[in-house]
Amino acid sequence: MTASLAFLEDSLAELDRAAARRIRRARVGQGLLDLSSNNYLGLAHAVERREGQFGAGASRLVTGDCVSHERLERALAAWLGFEDALVFSSGFAANAGTISALVGEHDVVFSDALNHASIIDGCRLSKAACVVIPHLDVDALDRALATTPHRRALVVTESWFSMDADTPNLAALRAVCDAHKAIWMVDEAHALGVFGPEGRGLCAQAGVAPDVFVGTFGKAFGASGAFVGGSGVLLDWLWNRARSFVFSTGVSPALADVVADRVPVVRGADDARRRLEVMSRRVRDAVPRGWKTPGHGPIVPIIIGSNDDALAASHSLRAKGFHVAAIRPPTVPPNTARLRLTLRADYTEPVIDSIVAALQSLA
Ligand SMILES: Cc1ncc(COP(=O)(O)O)c(C=O)c1O
Repeated sequence: MTASLAFLEDSLAELDRAAARRIRRARVGQGLLDLSSNNYLGLAHAVERREGQFGAGASRLVTGDCVSHERLERALAAWLGFEDALVFSSGFAANAGTISALVGEHDVVFSDALNHASIIDGCRLSKAACVVIPHLDVDALDRALATTPHRRALVVTESWFSMDADTPNLAALRAVCDAHKAIWMVDEAHALGVFGPEGRGLCAQAGVAPDVFVGTFGKAFGASGAFVGGSGVLLDWLWNRARSFVFSTGVSPALADVVADRVPVVRGADDARRRLEVMSRRVRDAVPRGWKTPGHGPIVPIIIGSNDDALAASHSLRAKGFHVAAIRPPTVPPNTARLRLTLRADYTEPVIDSIVAALQSLA
């Protein structure tokens, strides 16, 4: 290491002292059951080999646009009821590129306090002013929209927050955005495939449609990549101005084919979604010591408090054969370190019994 990077050793030591350092290659150890993935439908382990083009070879605007991309985008739009969709290489790229393409210096983004890092970075990239709205607080949003001068307003939220498993009142958010003529963007990264009619997510469950819908393939789809759904005009604009799309190699056509073939699988997975719901209730009920388990569904946050206690609980579960990550600040607010346990639709009854028993052993 060169002397110019020596300061990093001190910075890492500081993380060590705060029990906040993340180890690299944090693979699930052999023989451990992974209770920390976002692989809600168990599709990440399906192996599909196929003929065909692997790399797009260029940005889609240059020569990288492929039939596979179009097939996937059409399948997504038809499933979700949008005019069109546009595939990005990741959810991070979709959020950062979309927000910064929609708003700029004279605009304001109204962003839920617990929004994902990719949304926060999108706001920063956009150079718009950012008003952080207390988590899930629709009245505060309404007041902020009324009192903050702006040219254009963008309201952005997740539909199922990945660290707290909770959901805003989506119908109320739609109404407030309409009243203030604000653009409404909803990141359904975790909810797509898990909730709603045909797995269309929580907006569909609430009977509302956002102006800008973000879905990802890294979670229920068990793949990687993401997309934005919405009107044709929106997606034409993103094709032209979303820098993370324009200046990035097109998603692998082979991956696009795999994901397109999974659209009907995810869409038709109602039995899996029902199993997840029942399993989630059972596991949530088994959490001991009065630890809070906010939210709903197969992300089960177990709020413990200190980093050390959360790590100790994680180690104790590990000794029993379960990999459950301890989530610590800055990913979550100070003093809310937690276990974040996630469930998979393909877990059998004996597996669920063993998870319940392991949780109860923490009492
Ligand atoms: C709410 C939310 N949005 C976006 C992303 C980023 O998605 P990707 O992993 O495809 O970059 C994540 C990933 O964890 C997420 O939780």
